[in-house]
Amino acid sequence: MSLQRIDKILSSQNISSRSNTKILIKRRLIRVNNKLVKKPEEKFDPETDIIEVEGRQLRFKKNLYIMMNKPSGILSASRDTRSETVIDLLPGSMRREGLFPAGRLDKDTEGFILITDDGELAHKMLSPKSHVYKLYKAQCDRKLTEDDVTAFGKGIQMGEISFLPAEMKLISDDTALVEICEGKFHQVKKMFQSVGAQVIKLKRLRIGEVFLDDSLAPGECRELSEKELNDILSRKHGF
Ligand code: URA
Repeated sequence: MSLQRIDKILSSQNISSRSNTKILIKRRLIRVNNKLVKKPEEKFDPETDIIEVEGRQLRFKKNLYIMMNKPSGILSASRDTRSETVIDLLPGSMRREGLFPAGRLDKDTEGFILITDDGELAHKMLSPKSHVYKLYKAQCDRKLTEDDVTAFGKGIQMGEISFLPAEMKLISDDTALVEICEGKFHQVKKMFQSVGAQVIKLKRLRIGEVFLDDSLAPGECRELSEKELNDILSRKHGF
């Protein structure tokens, strides 16, 4: 990784603001490779240099990958003047510049949303070519039937829009699991609309091979493990 100013490194890692770093330097509290840092402009490689702030070694993270259980009523956007967004829900310890939700869930949809500052991963995950499967649980306003399962399995044409075949599994009278590998606007709701059913509750349960951690209450989040990060781009599917 390239050399960066110490004040920039520490602010990017949510360790210290630029103005606080000046104070820490004056108080001789920042060392790199066991030498005192004298000025905020000094540059280091955060991936190879050993940076210590107030005696604690920095664990540098180039990017953050956060799993959130998005509650209904929250926008999946970075910023909005009127509504609360998933970024607004992040705890202070996970805040840093450049975070955004990778993909969209409707305001009234709940469940797994990935928040990251890694544009490359988000691009790969969202590209239609990647065919990353996402699993949803949908509750509808009518009884669902095997005819609906067949219709989804064949793929759906709705005017100009076509949806690829999707696997559906009925789990109760009015609720089904649906797996899609595209991310068209309101896709799951529109697919149900095409068979005359209205989705009244929608929750995303899985992206790639990574399930939403069921210990996360709505609005809570945690970082992804390294394994989960690899599994998120997995193309395998099936219930
Ligand atoms: N499909 C929808 O209709 N809405 C979502 O939020 C996600 C998938």
